[in-house]
Amino acid sequence: MLSPAYCAKHSPRRPTCRSRWFQAVTNQMKEIPVSDPKTVKLLDGSSNRSSDLPLISGTLGPACIDIGTLYKDTGHFTYDPGYGSTASTKSAITYIDGDAGVLLYRGYPIEQLAEHSSFLEVAYLLLNGELPDKPQFDRFEHQITHHTMIHEAQRNFFHGFHYDAHPMAMLAASVASLSAFYHDDLDVDDPEDRKMAAVRLIAKMPTIAAACYRYSIGWPFRYPRNNLEYVDRFLHMMFEVPSEPLKLSPVATKALDLLFILHADHEQNASTSTVRLVGSTGANPYASIAAGITALWGPAHGGANEAVLKQLEEIGTPDKVASAVLRAKDKSDSFRLMGFGHRVYKNFDPRAKIIREMCHKVLAELGVNDPLLEVAMRLEEAALKDDYFVERKLYPNVDFYSGIIYKALNIPAEMFTVMFAIARTAGWIAHWIEQHETSGSRIGRPRQIYTGADVRDYVPAGRR
Ligand code: CMC
Repeated sequence: MLSPAYCAKHSPRRPTCRSRWFQAVTNQMKEIPVSDPKTVKLLDGSSNRSSDLPLISGTLGPACIDIGTLYKDTGHFTYDPGYGSTASTKSAITYIDGDAGVLLYRGYPIEQLAEHSSFLEVAYLLLNGELPDKPQFDRFEHQITHHTMIHEAQRNFFHGFHYDAHPMAMLAASVASLSAFYHDDLDVDDPEDRKMAAVRLIAKMPTIAAACYRYSIGWPFRYPRNNLEYVDRFLHMMFEVPSEPLKLSPVATKALDLLFILHADHEQNASTSTVRLVGSTGANPYASIAAGITALWGPAHGGANEAVLKQLEEIGTPDKVASAVLRAKDKSDSFRLMGFGHRVYKNFDPRAKIIREMCHKVLAELGVNDPLLEVAMRLEEAALKDDYFVERKLYPNVDFYSGIIYKALNIPAEMFTVMFAIARTAGWIAHWIEQHETSGSRIGRPRQIYTGADVRDYVPAGRR
């Protein structure tokens, strides 16, 4: 259980957080009926059928009603579009308390990992459940470093793409094509094969991502340099040109590593749920993660970082902020403030808080004076004061400031979601592995409420 001391230190709304913590514990106790501490009775008045539904609890968070037997007991199933009240799985990887603005990877607060850890260490943690000791980390880093190359035939695939293809389109296709290179020795039921797939994916993702970028600007591809660490190796593959040596900036390395940590996992978001849904069919990890990449691309999810930057550029100057906020509130207009709002965070996205601070630091250290930062700050200020955003608990999310940092690192807007995908690969594959390690996992198969035509007879074409 999160201690009030932790909440008090890390939440932007300290007293509220503490009282919410006690409230959550009290509510959990209230939900459990005294007569039968572990079930909730659901009575269907129309048929007099009832179901005793077990209440199940995780390590943290509210108790859940297990409705697995509901259909068998009552003949009804549940309706929850967007899954606002539905847990699709148990998972020991990441915990979010959206009301308190808390995010934990394997129990470790994101603030601590952001301050002290590295992306590769976080990837190990997500995959294995524990932080590595020095020999474990060295072995993991060695494995990642020695699986960064992609098959020459796969490099050739890029030449089949149109010159202006979106990097996310190329990334999804290229990751799916890994299935065509690593299928012979892959048994999804073998733990060692699953681990090897994880290493390959985390290792090759930056190589593929950099190739997507370089193809789009007509530069020759670069091979991964084993003498560089994960982030520097990626930056080298992105920016090195044959004509002059590349000077890597420690500020850029640190900033990117931190962004990768913050994006590494986020429990059952749309792309991770997609990976798990595809994985539940027994599909191979490369196919499963390619599906996750396509889900991430949408502007309501990971595509928001690219959309935020485009929106800030469209707004252009601080004096236009008020009209953008007005437009976002207009229900007859589909315009939304990109980088605002979150399904789970109803207080503040803890990642956004870290990125906001980092954004100021990185721009100052790199000597970049980006007028868009001023626009972003005005927009945040205006939205946080506006009743519409306050009532709906719409706060800046992880994508709001990340684009400004990527831009300062010379990463083009079309690559922003690709950057997100590199980091999230660690989380996706950790979930895919966890799913395969969980006994009794079943194929994911939601129900529906049919709203089409009633049964009717076929009418031959001449009589219609
Ligand atoms: N601008 C204006 N109004 C908004 C916004 C926004 N960004 N987000 C939500 N609302 C309004 C929405 O119109 C609705 O109003 P009403 O109650 O009057 O109908 C209310 O707030 C609740 O919104 P919702 O769409 O039901 O909330 P959701 O949980 O289904 O959607 C969201 C969450 C993140 C998709 C949404 O807030 C959004 O579209 N935000 C902009 C896109 C974005 O920044 N996405 C990145 C999410 S974080 C990173 C990630 O997941 O990858």
